[in-house]
Amino acid sequence: MKQRSEYCGKLGINSIGKQVNLYGWVNSYRNHGGLIFIDLRDIEGLIQIVIEPNNKKAFKTATELRNEYVISVTGLVRQRPKGTVNYNIRTGNIEVVVLIINILNTAKNLPISISDKIDCSEELRLKYRYLDLRRPKLQKHFILRSYIAKIVRDFLSEENFLEIETPILTKSTPEGARDFLVPSRIYNGQFFALPQSPQLFKQILMVAGFDKYYQIVKCFRDEDLRADRQLEFTQIDLEMSFIDERHIMNIIEKMICRIFKTVLNINIDIPFKQITYEYAMLKYGSDKPDLRFKMEIYDFSNEFKYSKFVTFKSTILQGGIVRGLCIPNGCNLANSAINNMIKFVNKYGAKGLSWLKITSTGATSHIVKYLTKQEINNLVVKCNAKIGDLLIFIADKDESIVIKSLGALRVSIANELKLINPNKFNFTWIIDFPLMQWSQDEHKWQSFHHPFTSPKNDMELFSIQDINIKKIKSKAYDIILNGIELGGGSIRIHKNTIQKKVFDMLQIPHNIAKKKFGFLLEALSYGAPPHGGIALGLDRLCSLIFGTQSIRDVIAFPKTQNAIDLMSNSPSHVTDEQLQTLGIRFR
Ligand code: AMO
Repeated sequence: MKQRSEYCGKLGINSIGKQVNLYGWVNSYRNHGGLIFIDLRDIEGLIQIVIEPNNKKAFKTATELRNEYVISVTGLVRQRPKGTVNYNIRTGNIEVVVLIINILNTAKNLPISISDKIDCSEELRLKYRYLDLRRPKLQKHFILRSYIAKIVRDFLSEENFLEIETPILTKSTPEGARDFLVPSRIYNGQFFALPQSPQLFKQILMVAGFDKYYQIVKCFRDEDLRADRQLEFTQIDLEMSFIDERHIMNIIEKMICRIFKTVLNINIDIPFKQITYEYAMLKYGSDKPDLRFKMEIYDFSNEFKYSKFVTFKSTILQGGIVRGLCIPNGCNLANSAINNMIKFVNKYGAKGLSWLKITSTGATSHIVKYLTKQEINNLVVKCNAKIGDLLIFIADKDESIVIKSLGALRVSIANELKLINPNKFNFTWIIDFPLMQWSQDEHKWQSFHHPFTSPKNDMELFSIQDINIKKIKSKAYDIILNGIELGGGSIRIHKNTIQKKVFDMLQIPHNIAKKKFGFLLEALSYGAPPHGGIALGLDRLCSLIFGTQSIRDVIAFPKTQNAIDLMSNSPSHVTDEQLQTLGIRFR
């Protein structure tokens, strides 16, 4: 095979007069009677190829071409004749006149078209992912993703991090999701787990004395899929010794700045803003609020406490709350908008929603008859409402329903009213998470992050009976970008005694803790340094940088929303022999 002399999309005016050898796919094909034109495509882009009838052999071959045939072309680059320049492609002012053309492979009629304009279902795209991936826009995602990974490696290596691999066949680690289990052939009845993250191994690398570890690593979690969740995904995972929260945050902030400057030529301001978990939940109803717009949540419980609006009043008297939003110019919303909001919050468990329109002639509402002038005024003052604004209120005995409903509604309304600047990147740290949360289902405390997260309070001096678990904050931090959790990490517990205390609080019996994490507890007892780390979701980072709707558009072979790989048809049944070898029989 002749060596490729250039990539199609890289040819330019400098190439004029040169003889080139090109390889690629027939992107489109036009037979204009006397002349045949082909748009030839490779990873770098398109070039127009011209086959003239006096080149009889080439012309005959060209008449056989169809879309997506793979060909080689030897030809001369020339300027396009006046009036035929194509401003839509980078190489639009030149073309290649064919000397020799060869068909290297044919292609059947395509089930999907190779164009950035998507005209088929996602199912079809994923079934024929190799064709889908030929789309120039999608190819660009993977070129940039590879570039981002390189920037990360270069940056962390400059900062003296070592890239160390950790096992894929491992023991179950508790990151909060279900494990994927791998049955052992040699030890029938025993299982490896695929890592939900390298959490324990990276901590153990710190015990081993590796000061700064990183890895761009696949993680596996058996959870329900969403636009930003896959069964297998990639983390930029790191861990450092002899540091505190600020050190980790500094490294991540510098790394993000480098990525955004290099890839998008955008300067990101550092340090990033920090808000506490409590504030985020109170003001935005989410621990990953979108802070590109304001529209905060207000607590109106005091304002409704003595009102004649019985529904709210009684909810408050029963220990519930009333919170709401002030929607700027919300009076302009269509009448159906409020009904839609009610349906929307119903999904989050809210029973209903009340509203108040602030008009130039006073407040109008289905509840206005229950409110005094003073009470209405208090509501308006509380949220600094202007004429044209729409106040909405949700009440419930269960605080979490109000928080979740308003948090989700806030984003939905902002999208509808186009309050969000899509070109803005808002990075924020969420700090001061609770160490644990009460599980109503299991009737016990559960780690808010994972059980190796260090408490903020000094617990060494207290016995667990003296500790108010609800009030303990952790040394955990999440980084959020535009309403998405981009990463999370923490300072870890490095003392065996505290780790044991935390297991006690989680009601993990000693023998279970020993069985599950005995190796970590053992490691912590041989001089473990203070350490901490973080992991960023690389798929989410790429998706946010490229502005895609889902992380599936930045993963070469993702699973569908229903957790299926449509291209390879997996998961799939295996043979009885395979099961027998593994000692597995279905019930
Ligand atoms: P955490 O569980 O917060 O932390 O995960 C870190 C980041 O990984 C990404 N992520 C996912 N991306 C796609 N699909 C998923 N199913 C998925 N799950 C998580 C998110 C998330 O913020 N070991 C800790 C880190 C540490 O403490 O150092 C951990 O895994 O972007």
